[in-house]
Amino acid sequence: LDHQLKEYYTLALEVAEKAGEVIRDAFNKEKMIDTKSCAADLVTVTDQAVEKLVFSLIREKYPTHKFIGEETTAETGEKLELTDHPTWIIDPIDGTTNFVHRIPEVCFSLGVTVNKEVVLGVVYLPILNQMYTSQRGQGAFLNGEKLTASGQTDLKQAVVICEGGSSRDADIVEKKIANIHRLVSASHGIRSYGSAAANLCRVAQGAGDAYVEYGIHIWDFIAGMLIAREAGAVIMDPSGSAIDLMGRRVLAASTQSLASQISSVLTHIDMGRD
Ligand code: IPD
Repeated sequence: LDHQLKEYYTLALEVAEKAGEVIRDAFNKEKMIDTKSCAADLVTVTDQAVEKLVFSLIREKYPTHKFIGEETTAETGEKLELTDHPTWIIDPIDGTTNFVHRIPEVCFSLGVTVNKEVVLGVVYLPILNQMYTSQRGQGAFLNGEKLTASGQTDLKQAVVICEGGSSRDADIVEKKIANIHRLVSASHGIRSYGSAAANLCRVAQGAGDAYVEYGIHIWDFIAGMLIAREAGAVIMDPSGSAIDLMGRRVLAASTQSLASQISSVLTHIDMGRD
């Protein structure tokens, strides 16, 4: 597997660079925007083009592998299924709202799972020229430099990254705002970078101590999750139980103690499973 993993990793970096070029070219141009589940759930022609390009490049090399992509899933409406086969999981642009509004935190995110476990993760922010990489058991890196999470153990001294998310369901928005209220009261402050993948990478580099979100999907967090974990962060379901890759929620924290404190102040919103 090690040998195969090296090959997957080389290809992952290659396709991330290509995806990044397409995203960079489109960033300052006018965008063709469409909406998905609601008026705040955006997709652009660039999201779709990047996903098609990347899938076709990987499929050429690994025709029998499985693929999960944000935009293909939106187009086909197929139920997500994670199997034991090698699976390439892609969010062509994580942070589409940022992309549309020319905010530079936009990521190409790519994770590979084998036996339903993530073995490599690449998150590339082409506008900021930041390439985050990880392979299971081998640490996490930003442009080649090794990353370490902050080690913060006390919520009172922590910065917690959280998001409003893309659901506009009144009940969900209300619960999220209540959670944000509690996090602000309990911590040094909150931040939102507008991309789950970027948020996880920031935790990995100790720029912020934790990240929690309800309502994301496997393509938003699979790669960033490995990067954060390989940098020493703990990853779990916000309730404190083991992460469910289809469970649509994630808590990443620099330490177990910080994770437990965050978990205990939150209302755990059930977003349904993918
Ligand atoms: C979004 C980002 C954002 C999160 C949303 C996601 P997308 O992903 O990860 O941080 O709050 O819930 O939908 O749609 O830009 O790939």
